[in-house]
Amino acid sequence: MKFGHFDDLNKEYVIEKYETPLPWINYLGSDSFFTLLSNTAGGYAFYKDARLRRITRYRYNNLPLDQDGFHIYVKDGDTIWNPGWQPVQTALDHYECRHGLGYSVITGKKNDILVKQELYVPKYDNILLQRVTVNNTADTAKEIDLFSFVEFCLWDAMDDSSNFQRNYSTGEVEVEGSAIYHKTEYRERRNHYAVFYANKPVDSFDTSRDSFMGVYGSPKAPAAVVNGKCGNSIAHGWQPVGAHHFHLNLKAGETYSVIIGLGYVEVPVEEKFIAPSVINKSYAHALMNKYITDEQFDTGMTELRKFWNELLSGFEVKTENENVNRMVNIWNAYQCMVTFNMSRSASYYESGIGRGMGFRDSCQDLLGFVHMIPERARERILDIAATQKEDGGAYHQYQPLTKKGNSDIGGGFNDDPLWLIACTDAYIRETGDWAILDEIVDFDNNHEKAAPLLEHLRRSFNYTLNNLGPNKLPLIGRADWNDCLNLNCFSEHPGESFQITGPSEGPVAESVFIAGMFVKYGREYANILKHLGIAEEAEKAYKAVDQMTETVLDKGWDGEWFLRAYDAFGQKIGSEECEEGKIFIEPQGMCIMAGIGIETGHAQKALDAVKERLDTKYGIVLLNPAYTKYRLNLGEISSYPPGYKENAGIFCHNNPWIIFAESIMGHGDRAFELYKKTCPAFLEEISEIHRTEPYAYCQMVAGKDAPTFGEGKNSWLTGTAAWTFTVLTEGILGIQPDYDGLTVDPCIPHTVKHFTVNRLFRNTMYHITVNNPDGVQKGVKAIKVNGSDVPVGPIPVTDRKEVTVEVTMG
Ligand code: GLC
Ligand code: GLC
Repeated sequence: MKFGHFDDLNKEYVIEKYETPLPWINYLGSDSFFTLLSNTAGGYAFYKDARLRRITRYRYNNLPLDQDGFHIYVKDGDTIWNPGWQPVQTALDHYECRHGLGYSVITGKKNDILVKQELYVPKYDNILLQRVTVNNTADTAKEIDLFSFVEFCLWDAMDDSSNFQRNYSTGEVEVEGSAIYHKTEYRERRNHYAVFYANKPVDSFDTSRDSFMGVYGSPKAPAAVVNGKCGNSIAHGWQPVGAHHFHLNLKAGETYSVIIGLGYVEVPVEEKFIAPSVINKSYAHALMNKYITDEQFDTGMTELRKFWNELLSGFEVKTENENVNRMVNIWNAYQCMVTFNMSRSASYYESGIGRGMGFRDSCQDLLGFVHMIPERARERILDIAATQKEDGGAYHQYQPLTKKGNSDIGGGFNDDPLWLIACTDAYIRETGDWAILDEIVDFDNNHEKAAPLLEHLRRSFNYTLNNLGPNKLPLIGRADWNDCLNLNCFSEHPGESFQITGPSEGPVAESVFIAGMFVKYGREYANILKHLGIAEEAEKAYKAVDQMTETVLDKGWDGEWFLRAYDAFGQKIGSEECEEGKIFIEPQGMCIMAGIGIETGHAQKALDAVKERLDTKYGIVLLNPAYTKYRLNLGEISSYPPGYKENAGIFCHNNPWIIFAESIMGHGDRAFELYKKTCPAFLEEISEIHRTEPYAYCQMVAGKDAPTFGEGKNSWLTGTAAWTFTVLTEGILGIQPDYDGLTVDPCIPHTVKHFTVNRLFRNTMYHITVNNPDGVQKGVKAIKVNGSDVPVGPIPVTDRKEVTVEVTMG
């Protein structure tokens, strides 16, 4: 069942039914100020860091679901309703939510009153803007009351939801006309506040939640809305909120509109106050004055659209399949921006207080982002590298505000360092900016220990070599990519973190997955050295990679597929010998992407085994058979019920590794068949089963062992975004940026005869046409550049602004 449709022309998803299977959200903001917004106007706002600078509250796990947000209330006689349906849930006569790129428009109609909420975060300012337009479509006059409402968070979202003995006494506000200032803790160590303003005079307002909602009231029937006016309350402690009230007399056909902004303002410390306890509002005035008129509002929106259109025009594909086109051209790229900005911090599944920026996550997110805004990618690579430890190991996470490694979680996730090579190499291939390797970057955020970025890559590479186990495979440490395969943990007590319990440097447990990574990214590192003319070291690196390849084929091969690991007792994991968890997806994907066993036939065998043992109609499960009981030697992976998460869920993140593997093997039909299985646009028709947004990937779909097979969870913040974008564009369409040029080497279904791509690469727009007259799945027989035949191979970088490329497969 569908709950809406794609509007490709406007780059929007249009939700037509408000009761979506789960809240379907959008992300507003792409730089510093962010808002999560659901299709019923739920969500929250924050500045840069969802934990430390939370602007509004959000209660996860709430009942009813998704009650906190940016709701507009209408009181029309005895009928109270919201244009987004929530939280009052009055049935609407008409409803529509358009989620676009960086903005959303929610429209609701009830009893001839049409209310439209247009929301966006402008490109250059720290503010959530919304214009509320009310239209009386009746042929008689109407008298109604309109209310805005937000509930402020007292900045540190963790403290805000736990430290009530303090927080119930700290809340402070000021009111000036239609502007409500939330200034909790500004009196002491903060120099920032929030402002919630309207561009029209209010008839009443509230800043105390008790006054607006009623002490025992609820968002379903706020006391102020029921009474038709607010209490002009000033909050002292308790729960500061912002609410505006507008009493409207609308003639037949008349339209009223008001702009409401929620801004974040910082004031230089020496200018904080203009009088004792009176905050300096001049910076807020300047911000508000930029968005007072409709023209200003519209200009901000136009700029935003222009930004996105230009950004996305750098990669545009036209195939016969509209789902592919809309994912690549719009939604998958958009999600790559979101994961780049959020890492795994703030979504409807990530509370914003838990995880900061993940080392491996952020490195992988870059793979789908480097081509969009390379300068930001560059900055991110340097930020991440600066948290690396001196021995080449990594802090698993860092906080975006401080950019310091997070010592609560620490390190010892032995795949982490190699991902730094992956993203740096992708960045260089995209930009040709070799100079990044000369940038002097701290180790462990300590400037005295700074060294060129190349040295960071060297230590990443050596970290693996310095941490080999009994079979000469890489030691797994706390975990590798699979956070839940905890071979050195042995946790028996509830509440212990699987990731930080036990010795991280277990001397026995080894990972075949990291071995595959070492071959893939170690080779990229060697290529970099070679390109830089550091020949001898490059040779040594290639040798180490070849050695690891041998080791994998010897100790990491189970007979029909690649083994997953050896546990702390040297026992095989992911082997036919195992009772459960006989085969895992990760090493099959990574080893084949690394080129291991392609010539020897191992790769084909492994892919056959994946098809036979792991494939389902909704994608490839992570392992099989699922673990049916908790196993001390394996950790969190066996804590999940069968079919969920890492215990045989369909982890969308590593499905693309198998797709890549198939495309390397030349299997275009199979690669695309697998691509479709987890691609949300292809699941739109079964939204009642899939449940998450049809325009965003989710981390996991329940696997075949789960009672809810096919149900998606944890949408948006997942490495899936970057990997699916990369596999579709580089693996299937075959557009591969390389050090000295652009390679076009598609691997497509044999039925596809033609497609085109516009690809911006090193300031040149390549207009690429691919023809497949013989209906092959892979292979290029001729290339023309600007009409002339050129040898089959990478198309060299040029000074021209535009180049046409014609590729004939066969
Ligand atoms: C989550 C984590 C990621 C990890 C994956 C598998 O998506 O963010 O870092 O690799 O789970 O455990
Ligand atoms: C990964 C897993 C999750 C686990 C987490 C721990 O994200 O998907 O299940 O709890 O790692 O950090």
